[in-house]
Amino acid sequence: MAKRRIGILTGGGDCPGLNAVIRGVTKSAINKYGMEVVGFHDGFEGLIEERFTILRSENVSGILIQGGTILGTSNKANPFAHWVGEGEERHTVDVSDKCLALYEDLGLEALICVGGDGTMTIGGQLAEKGMNVVGVPKTIDKDLMETDITFGFDTARMTATEAIDRLHTTAQSHHRVMVVEVMGRNAGWLALESGLAGGGDVILLPEIPYDIHEVIAAVRRRSRFGKRFSIVVVSEGTRPQGGEQVYQRIVEDSPDPVRLGGISHVIANQIEEHTEIECRVTILGHLQRGGTPTPFDRILATQFSVKAMEMVNEKKFNQMVAYQGGKLVSVPIEKVMGKQRTVPVDCDLIQAALAVGTSFGVPM
Ligand code: F6P
Repeated sequence: MAKRRIGILTGGGDCPGLNAVIRGVTKSAINKYGMEVVGFHDGFEGLIEERFTILRSENVSGILIQGGTILGTSNKANPFAHWVGEGEERHTVDVSDKCLALYEDLGLEALICVGGDGTMTIGGQLAEKGMNVVGVPKTIDKDLMETDITFGFDTARMTATEAIDRLHTTAQSHHRVMVVEVMGRNAGWLALESGLAGGGDVILLPEIPYDIHEVIAAVRRRSRFGKRFSIVVVSEGTRPQGGEQVYQRIVEDSPDPVRLGGISHVIANQIEEHTEIECRVTILGHLQRGGTPTPFDRILATQFSVKAMEMVNEKKFNQMVAYQGGKLVSVPIEKVMGKQRTVPVDCDLIQAALAVGTSFGVPM
């Protein structure tokens, strides 16, 4: 009898914990279900270009603590809109039939897609075409629908909090305003939670467009009470009321082309101009995606991977592993596709921050 086989790929931006999932899937597939694991390189690119490896126990040994993904990833590849040609001739073609044919030729029972909303959306489309897909939610942004948490977030929150702590001491010593910009795209979870953990005086989120006069007033208030320094934690996706987000580049061939970044410079210049307190900007950028996963992320990633294999074995396809109210569950992928989970403005975390005097750049 032919050996049972599954495929796995990691798509979208990398984050700590991806290797823990690859390890968990491979080990439980081999040990528990006697299955073989095909790992596709560079996310959907490997599926399109037929680049894959059979993953054996020795390939995943020792990777639990490593950041990144041994399989590689891509946040551009999309079987439904694959870029071909050069210059003026450049255009997209649908190569999903070819991907389905490869999946069938390899005799895969299912394809485990580890990624964020972009990966889940493509995974869901492949499921509609006939593949058996199981999703595993990753992202430092924590912006996936239907799951309370994604692995990668805890590590990024730790990195951002440590950075804020370090900036605190230099802010205090130099009597400066330190503006620190964290990632998160259109969701402010990372800024909110690291800002809360690091005691940010002002936290600016995409969900609450700010009024610069309120930000300046918060900094001035502190100065009046002898605190001649402030920490302003800025989510890269925030914008002023009636204004626009700031972006660094447009990645034309990406399904999600806008790469945010740089709003903190605008904010710092305005604060400096109106308060005459020196400001400095730190953009944490991709530092937040690197490094060894925290124990929380290692455990969550391992639980997610084992659950994903359980779902494969029980033929619970076209579902994503999720964490809801303290329990591991599965949810239909279609509920996640094309959506983003943002911070509810009335959530407990915001209420707690307000209670300790944090400003969100608007009267609240
Ligand atoms: O979604 C993860 C994320 O790190 C976002 O927080 C950020 O906006 C984006 O990816 C950056 O993408 P890239 O790695 O393409 O610059």
